[in-house]
Amino acid sequence: MNVRSWLKNNKTLVDSLDAELILAHVLGKDRVFLVSHDEDELTDAQIAAADELIRKRLAGYPVAYLVGHKEFYGRDFVINENVLIPRPETEGIIDLVKDLNPRKILDIGTGSGCIAITLKAELPEARVCAYDISEAALEVAAQNAANLDVDLDALVISDLTSNVDLSDADVVVANLPYVNPDWDFLSPEIKKEPDLALYADDNGLALIKKLIDELAAKKYHGYLVLESDASQQKDIIKYAGEHGFKYQKTTELITLFLS
Ligand SMILES: C[S@@+](CC[C@H](N)C(=O)[O-])C[C@H]1O[C@@H](n2cnc3c(N)ncnc32)[C@H](O)[C@@H]1O
Repeated sequence: MNVRSWLKNNKTLVDSLDAELILAHVLGKDRVFLVSHDEDELTDAQIAAADELIRKRLAGYPVAYLVGHKEFYGRDFVINENVLIPRPETEGIIDLVKDLNPRKILDIGTGSGCIAITLKAELPEARVCAYDISEAALEVAAQNAANLDVDLDALVISDLTSNVDLSDADVVVANLPYVNPDWDFLSPEIKKEPDLALYADDNGLALIKKLIDELAAKKYHGYLVLESDASQQKDIIKYAGEHGFKYQKTTELITLFLS
């Protein structure tokens, strides 16, 4: 079977892009290679490996976990099942922070490191420190920083701000877990991502509120950039306002505050 036939068969089973990503991954090439080599014959081993990944895709595994990487803001990040798959909607944080002209950025709940590493790459003059409660996630973030040749100013284990030095920070960004497991619109794929990266109590707001509490208690003054579901923004704006964070603006899932 050649590349074209395998793709034709499998594009009826899964999304076209997923089929291409899977075959390119098995061949150790990028998707462009498939177009220019569509007559190449596949070996039995390549067909077996690609078919196995299609079976997993059909069983609900996100394609990003099957191929082990995902693009974020134009850069390729390695990922595994210990980290959330970077989402395009989170890229809004990068555009927003770039406009703030920051000197020192703290990324709380860094996961794959996609936000912190992208910000450091885009804003090399800024200091960027990244924190996560998960040692396994920090290993992925360290791998991404090395792959992308980005030197973070800190990459440290921390339960919210417990290990965070807030002095001099003028921007705190946080895409913390904000999913309520009872929401009925959750896809089966999301259930393959780590609970620690997804879920929070109090209709998904527990960790966001706790971060606001901690920043207020530590007398942080600067910008706070939060991602949440759109349905949570009204409650977050109210809670933040009660704790000294003035609402600035919302862009889709991203809300900006200043204290
Ligand atoms: C929604 S994921 C976001 C990951 C990444 N920042 C992104 O945007 O793709 C949330 C991250 O917060 C981390 N996390 C969960 N609870 C935490 C806590 N109490 N303190 C610090 N990080 C936490 C998880 O391990 C996970 O990596």
